[in-house]
Amino acid sequence: MRPVEELNIGRGFVLKNRSLLAAMTNKQSNEDGTVSRAEMDWLVRRAKGGFAITTTAAANVTEQGRGWSGEIGVWGDHQILGLQEMATKLNRFDTISIVQLFHGGMRAPRELNGVQPISASVNTERGMAGEHTRAMTTPEIEGMIQSFTAAALRCQTAGFDGVELHGAHSYLISQFLGTKTNRRTDKWGGNLHARSRFLREIIKSIRAATKDKFLIVVRISPIIESAGINLEDSLQLAQLLCQTDIDMLHISCWDVFDNIDDGNPESLTRRFRNVMPANFPLISTGSVWDAKDAQWLMDEGADIVGVGRVAIAHPDWPKGLHDIDYQPTRPPFTEKHLRNVGLSPVFVDYMKRWKNFVAK
Ligand SMILES: Cc1cc2nc3c(=O)[nH]c(=O)nc-3n(C[C@H](O)[C@H](O)[C@H](O)COP(=O)(O)O)c2cc1C
Repeated sequence: MRPVEELNIGRGFVLKNRSLLAAMTNKQSNEDGTVSRAEMDWLVRRAKGGFAITTTAAANVTEQGRGWSGEIGVWGDHQILGLQEMATKLNRFDTISIVQLFHGGMRAPRELNGVQPISASVNTERGMAGEHTRAMTTPEIEGMIQSFTAAALRCQTAGFDGVELHGAHSYLISQFLGTKTNRRTDKWGGNLHARSRFLREIIKSIRAATKDKFLIVVRISPIIESAGINLEDSLQLAQLLCQTDIDMLHISCWDVFDNIDDGNPESLTRRFRNVMPANFPLISTGSVWDAKDAQWLMDEGADIVGVGRVAIAHPDWPKGLHDIDYQPTRPPFTEKHLRNVGLSPVFVDYMKRWKNFVAK
């Protein structure tokens, strides 16, 4: 298999190649959560560049679930119009358009949302100024499942092809998954089956509410020590999720070439592939830069290669994959280059927080 080959993922969707633009927060949305022109331009430029799947930045499903300012919102009907324009523009370039849905949970600070953060249990986080979260009540959990569902329906109404549930990076869904962040003794906590109930109920509810031709992707982190998420559980979770009605599983590895120090030389991607049904679409993301990296990841068992940073600097990255010797230039990038590839000053500024990405 090669990264330029098509893939039929069911529900009437065929990927034109194996590239996916991973969700990337860019701080460009308006204060009311509506999509800005700059945000639209940046994403549409990547769709034009040939990505088979284009994912939006993490978008919050309730008004008080914001993790940072400048975040896209999918919590209100006033946001549908902008989303509609975005989806229409993306779909014109024959990309599969996906909105990443999330809630910050313990990472939704009071200073931004004006309320005490919520989580699976009483937790705290760096940046919360010593404050603790409130453990969600069962009615609140059920309400949150409805908020995810309503958000997915807004995405459907706007014309997106599907949603990615952000179950990675210590946001609310992964706070439910982790043993350290979820210490509940009711049906939402306990063993992995119970800790994943919140995620599985969201999937069930979205699937029941949306049309047949609507994709549900789940993104997870294989390991988050601070949340109590270990690889063994994540592999089991992958198996559980493959039995639900999702269409693709996305593992966020940060560095797909990294070896876990446990005596097993297999890559993270290979380990997930080993436990998943052979034909279940697996997306893997993290530190892929050139065409050889992409081919390596596919040889490890990924069906779809996700990229983040390389696509910021090289919007036409998928087109390069036709040549196995394609080696896009590496960071640091000048501000001028980043402006030329469709980043607004706000996004360029944000990228200065990522070590060595923007030239000084
Ligand atoms: C600027 C930036 C913003 C990001 N925002 C998100 C996000 O909103 N949701 C998410 O799941 N991951 C986010 N990530 C992680 C990326 O999706 C990706 O997994 C990570 O950058 C590793 O891939 P890469 O090495 O190809 O960049 C972000 C990464 C970057 C660089």
